[in-house]
Amino acid sequence: MGARILLTTPVPEPAPSLLAAAGELTVLDAPPTYAELDALCASGEFDVVLTQLRDLVDAPLLARARIKGISNYAVGHNNIDVAAATEHGIAVANTPGVLTDATADIAMLLILGTARRVIEADRLVREGRFTGWEPELLLGFDVSGRTLGLAGFGRIARATARRALGFGMEVLFAPRPPGDRVVGPEELGEFAGKVRQVPWDELVASSDYLSLHVPLNQDTRHLVDAAVLERMKPSAILINTARGPIVDEDALVHALSTGRIAGAGLDVFENEPLLAEGLALLPNTVLLPHVGSATVPVRAEMARLSALNAIAMAGGQVPAHPVNPEVYA
Ligand code: GLV
Ligand code: GLV
Repeated sequence: MGARILLTTPVPEPAPSLLAAAGELTVLDAPPTYAELDALCASGEFDVVLTQLRDLVDAPLLARARIKGISNYAVGHNNIDVAAATEHGIAVANTPGVLTDATADIAMLLILGTARRVIEADRLVREGRFTGWEPELLLGFDVSGRTLGLAGFGRIARATARRALGFGMEVLFAPRPPGDRVVGPEELGEFAGKVRQVPWDELVASSDYLSLHVPLNQDTRHLVDAAVLERMKPSAILINTARGPIVDEDALVHALSTGRIAGAGLDVFENEPLLAEGLALLPNTVLLPHVGSATVPVRAEMARLSALNAIAMAGGQVPAHPVNPEVYA
């Protein structure tokens, strides 16, 4: 029998063709509720489930699941309890690498867009309120010469650093906030002498732009809370292209509305797709609907990787991008 794959949401080609060619493909036409996904995983009818970051795959579901693998259509995998999957011998795979540049582009876009008030400016023009050049119309912040603080120093943080250096920014980073680990010269590579490692506290206090590039886990949930916002510069701008719950969004709304910090550019939200009360009313924010990886080529690459991961796991093989390779040990 070929691979029996369940796709919880239609994804672009080449995934449907690859999966259909490998065996039997089932595509749900509406995103499953938790109970539906739970029942489908427990049915014994599928070898691998290809999930989205909206699909919650928690320990109770995994305890009942009769599947070999979960192929997440994302690099982040906080929607899956990976430890529980490992415990039940269920492999998990993701799509790293292919969305790094696209997501760093969105981080840079949010830095520039927030600094230069692009949403307010666009709205002014559309609403017919542009009455001619004015010396003090919509003055924003500079980007060149100012300090970008990167929380995290993984692929996406580095790709953001590369862009920021091109814009003449000073780049600091804290690799594993709130904790620390030393990034040696070898790991720094092309960035040696160009970016500087500082402790998390110093990063918070000295960044003009603080950009988050850490995975969501129990150490990073509410990494940016009221106390951290309190220690940021009043002129600072917070950028989040990682995961919403890394920021205490109610505390952020408070900090933005009281002028504690100057602005925020967000591609992710704590309770996506819901927004914290008041967030959408703040002019000093740029709010995007989680589009970090949303380009045609990137989504096609994610589709290809997630399909190949799924086919490998269905056949009992180690996928190209395993999250818990120890399952195969
Ligand atoms: C998107 O957020 C991803 O993790 O791929
Ligand atoms: C994800 O791709 C990361 O490591 O930043």
